[in-house]
Amino acid sequence: MTKVSLVNADGSPKKGNDYCPQAPFIFGTYKDDGKPNFGMFNWLSYCWDGECHVMCGIGGEKLTKDRIHATGVFSANLVTEKLVPLADWFGNHSGNETDKALANVKIERGSLLNVPTLADSPWTYELEVKHSIPLDDGEIFVCRIANILADERLTDENVSVDERFKLVRSALVAGVGRYYGVNSTPLGKWGDWRDAKL
Ligand SMILES: Cc1cc2nc3c(=O)[nH]c(=O)nc-3n(C[C@H](O)[C@H](O)[C@H](O)COP(=O)(O)O)c2cc1C
Repeated sequence: MTKVSLVNADGSPKKGNDYCPQAPFIFGTYKDDGKPNFGMFNWLSYCWDGECHVMCGIGGEKLTKDRIHATGVFSANLVTEKLVPLADWFGNHSGNETDKALANVKIERGSLLNVPTLADSPWTYELEVKHSIPLDDGEIFVCRIANILADERLTDENVSVDERFKLVRSALVAGVGRYYGVNSTPLGKWGDWRDAKL
């Protein structure tokens, strides 16, 4: 492989994650008037603080950020291939300008937290903000996972993990501005190469 440094048209180093895919999530919050609001958020990852925590980066000003500040809680709903059109729409309309409580979207209140969740997402986090780190033009939230609402088929011990993984059909988002499906080809277990002579 020949590698090159990526540069912008003016020669400055390029910043971005063009070919680094991530699983996108739809974040849900309740507005002041009790109606749900949803936005699409790709920059979600995990960190360890005694147990698994979720961390996410919200850039600029948006209603989701304001509502997280106001309530301290939100849901993060994994986006599947089927949910891509809805997620894209949520991600391209500001909650400050558009009522995003769509009548044909099945919304359920979280089990432990007062957050709106999407019934059609197979993996939903109910999150409580533990730390927030303000940036110059954005903010990072480190969140305690209060609860995970999962498609019950993912808990079926009679089905192999590889088969359960295939059920999820998560979407992927790449910084290059495209959505992709996940190729669920099993590649092995963690530790399979622990003793490999490489
Ligand atoms: C594919 C995609 C991924 C996005 N990921 C993020 C993200 O990780 N962080 C962020 O701040 N905004 C992200 N956005 C933008 C928000 O979804 C967008 O600003 C949305 O309008 C926010 O909704 P709200 O105004 O109801 O909060 C993304 C948008 C799209 C289409």
